[in-house]
Amino acid sequence: ALHSIVSPSILSADFANLARDVRRVVDAGAEWVHVDVFDGVFVPNLTIGPPVVKSLHKNVPDAFLDCHLCTVHPENYVEELAAAGAAQFTFHIEAPGIDFSCGAAAALAARARALGMLAGIALKPETPVDSILPLLAAGAVDTVLLLAVRAGFGGQKFNPAVLPKVAAVRAAFGGNIIVDGGITLDNARSVAEAGANALVAGSTVFAGKEPPEVAVPGLVELIA
Ligand code: DX5
Ligand code: ZN
Repeated sequence: ALHSIVSPSILSADFANLARDVRRVVDAGAEWVHVDVFDGVFVPNLTIGPPVVKSLHKNVPDAFLDCHLCTVHPENYVEELAAAGAAQFTFHIEAPGIDFSCGAAAALAARARALGMLAGIALKPETPVDSILPLLAAGAVDTVLLLAVRAGFGGQKFNPAVLPKVAAVRAAFGGNIIVDGGITLDNARSVAEAGANALVAGSTVFAGKEPPEVAVPGLVELIA
């Protein structure tokens, strides 16, 4: 059965103390930990790759590393990320290596699953849900990630235009629906009510007015 999951995004953590910050949110009740893998091409920001995922997995082995690939060629990193200890591999339908092809996306998702990971498909705010309906109908993914902000940076304002997209995915899909971007203690409940069961939260958890020990259980309770 689906349950409610909070996935703190380490994009807003202290990059010089990542293992400490991951330990902290896992101990606070975060079932997943969101790792934004940005290549500086698909999005105008450069972050984390497989070596850092590997170190995090080694230092915090009980963390479920929920990797979000904002990269032009996610297909080039699936083996390396699986070997590094990634637990979920979510990539964009708009990535040039996929180019909106549900066939290419299904093939990459199948590779991720064969390597022992959950497979997710992500949509930018401007991408319609229709573009992934064949993928959902085929049962090719475990998770759909809907961005509620422009891809690439933490701390942006939530765009409520994602809410009807959540409802449209939920009508067609029984798996995990993640909303990523702009999640706060004030809007989390409405996002869950629209049909999402997993929320990514970066600045709210790592740079908000409440510390992770308050923000993580607060978010879990709001969406339970
Ligand atoms: C945005 C990233 C998000 C980001 C969210 O491109 O995919 O995961 O960390 O940050 P907040 O929660 O601060 O909007
Ligand atoms: Zn993300």
